[in-house]
Amino acid sequence: MSARFLIEGGKPLVGLIHVRGSKNAALPILAATLLTNEHCRIKNLPLVNDVHAMLKILHDMGSKIAWIDKHSIEIENQDIDPRKLSRDIVKKMRASILLLGPLLARFGRVEKMRYPGGCSIGARPIDVHLDAFVDLGARVLRDKHFFSVFLEDCPSVSRTFVLSEFSVTATENLMIFLSALPFQNEIRIAASEPHVADLAKFLKKLGAIIEGAGTSTVQVKGCSKLKGATHIVAPDYIEAGTFLLMSLAVGGDMEIKNAPVSHLDLVIKKLVSSGAEVFADEKKQVLRVKSGGRIRLERIQTMPYPGMPTDLQSAFAVLASQTFGKTLIHEPMYERRLEFLKELARLGARVEILDPHRAYIYGPARLYGAEVSSLDLRSASALVVAGLAAKGATIIHGAEHAQRGYEDFDGRLRKLGANIKKIS
Ligand code: EPZ
Repeated sequence: MSARFLIEGGKPLVGLIHVRGSKNAALPILAATLLTNEHCRIKNLPLVNDVHAMLKILHDMGSKIAWIDKHSIEIENQDIDPRKLSRDIVKKMRASILLLGPLLARFGRVEKMRYPGGCSIGARPIDVHLDAFVDLGARVLRDKHFFSVFLEDCPSVSRTFVLSEFSVTATENLMIFLSALPFQNEIRIAASEPHVADLAKFLKKLGAIIEGAGTSTVQVKGCSKLKGATHIVAPDYIEAGTFLLMSLAVGGDMEIKNAPVSHLDLVIKKLVSSGAEVFADEKKQVLRVKSGGRIRLERIQTMPYPGMPTDLQSAFAVLASQTFGKTLIHEPMYERRLEFLKELARLGARVEILDPHRAYIYGPARLYGAEVSSLDLRSASALVVAGLAAKGATIIHGAEHAQRGYEDFDGRLRKLGANIKKIS
């Protein structure tokens, strides 16, 4: 039975909230520990289901994992058996594709890996990943359920890889693999998200020389004997952005601490130019926004970083339903991420879906509690925002989606005065 959130909305959110470590940085960094036999310490891990799933996959293959404090582990990958890669977890978690690069680097082959599952927000093919390894000389076998990659002859010449789109995990997979090759390679059309840069920081601590991470051209000079390292996972700008948009949509006075303000330039710019009063202290990593005021968003268009993050699109849509005028939501990245708007409309939002990538939202609209279903982790968190803004009781099916990406989401919101609890 899936978990549900029960929310009694209409209460302002007041108080401090501390942003946790980035899930999308923690996942590739944990996978990359497979590159070394030495101990690694990974700190500031978010306690979210996807991180626990990645740790379970590693443990089942033979990783020795010890928790050294509430958010930190020590991991040692001396004896790893890739045949123990858990197909059940891989099927459920998209991010398991991040094991491809490190396992290929370590064993030269990955046999009968399940296609990664994950959110219902789009097809999300893995061709960009597989094409990169074919460029490296790999042989790929695929059938309906599994794929295998063989790369026994270790590449020995420098290459320039041109990805077919700014794919985050494909960039990360290739960066991890190239970190084990003791010569220079270059990745073009690389994704530049902050979690790609945080992964590169970790790979450099293992001994790789990486230039340009966080831009669209990355040079990697790896090392055949990578060492252990300690790394503190960067704070999660998507979580920080979710709380910022929540504070505006629901009202109150929320102070967001450990916020990576510089990763939210365009989000903050958009809110300020739309009429919101945002207080952003990059040095102190604090974000606050003064709710109220006449905000007109007009258009939200998602793009690869440093463009507007697609993972904040759903929360922006909720804000659009509470602010003035007609807002165009343009989501060119995923073909099914706008599906969530049908659930938002059940709470009273005025939505007009034009096609799989564009919708209008007319605001402000009074939201009233209803029973809704979340489709993925970002629509789950956005429906929580809507339920907190709505008058009356809201039940959200699929609370487990939110738990994939937001640590103790309901518990931390209750501390801000939200009337929210998990019900089975
Ligand atoms: C990563 O997924 C994230 N997951 C996703 O976050 C995030 O939505 C996505 O990047 C985009 O930022 C992890 O990091 C574990 P992609 P990934 O290959 O790598 C299209 C979350 O909520 N696209 O970057 O699988 C592409 O076709 C999850 O934490 C373009 O159209 O995604 C695909 O449909 C969900 N043009 C989608 O975007 C481009 O130039 C994501 O692609 C690049 C991508």
